[in-house]
Amino acid sequence: MSAPPDLPGIVNRAFDVSRKAGYVSFCRNETGRLLASLAATRGGTMAELGTGCGVGTAWLRSGVRDDSARIVTAELDAALAKAAAEIFTDDPLVEVVAADWSTVLDKGPFSLLFLDAGLDGVTVDTVADMVEPGGLVVLDDLVPSETWPPIVHGRVDIQREQWLTDERFTAAEVMVAPDATTLIATKR
Ligand SMILES: C[S@@+](CC[C@H](N)C(=O)[O-])C[C@H]1O[C@@H](n2cnc3c(N)ncnc32)[C@H](O)[C@@H]1O
Repeated sequence: MSAPPDLPGIVNRAFDVSRKAGYVSFCRNETGRLLASLAATRGGTMAELGTGCGVGTAWLRSGVRDDSARIVTAELDAALAKAAAEIFTDDPLVEVVAADWSTVLDKGPFSLLFLDAGLDGVTVDTVADMVEPGGLVVLDDLVPSETWPPIVHGRVDIQREQWLTDERFTAAEVMVAPDATTLIATKR
């Protein structure tokens, strides 16, 4: 998959912070570019569940065009949240919350919700009402599957199946690299 080699400045800054923290569990650049292009279509409040060191947040921020848009991102690990917050110290559009993801759900409804804290406990039912009509949910880190139902490591991927069939959303898988798929679900 082709992409220009230069990264947005804010993403480079997030990588610097990640490197210093020794943190490597950030979204890949292909996903980041997707996040940026989706964020460019959004106003309102976007949310990220699972900040890590702020790389995904930075990609989202790099895409924002609407100055009234906001990004709130939650990270359970206080040290990571502190490191990520430093990237956005002078940025009134971004709020890093050091807490469980469930604590930011009341900041919705969201125009975009990036689910990246691991999928345990985050189901369609958990977040469906937190997304505004036309709002997007993005799930990262899926293994490509060409079967229906989707099978990963010999088991049906029940959560993915739910996202792809839930009547409250119109959803599609998007392969961002030969070995990586994201899922985008639009609230109806
Ligand atoms: C894959 S990393 C996030 C990467 C980041 N979104 C990015 O794109 O660079 C997952 C993060 O979720 C955090 N996490 C796990 N459980 C969480 C929870 N219940 N609430 C908030 N964050 C959580 C982990 O500490 C970890 O930093």
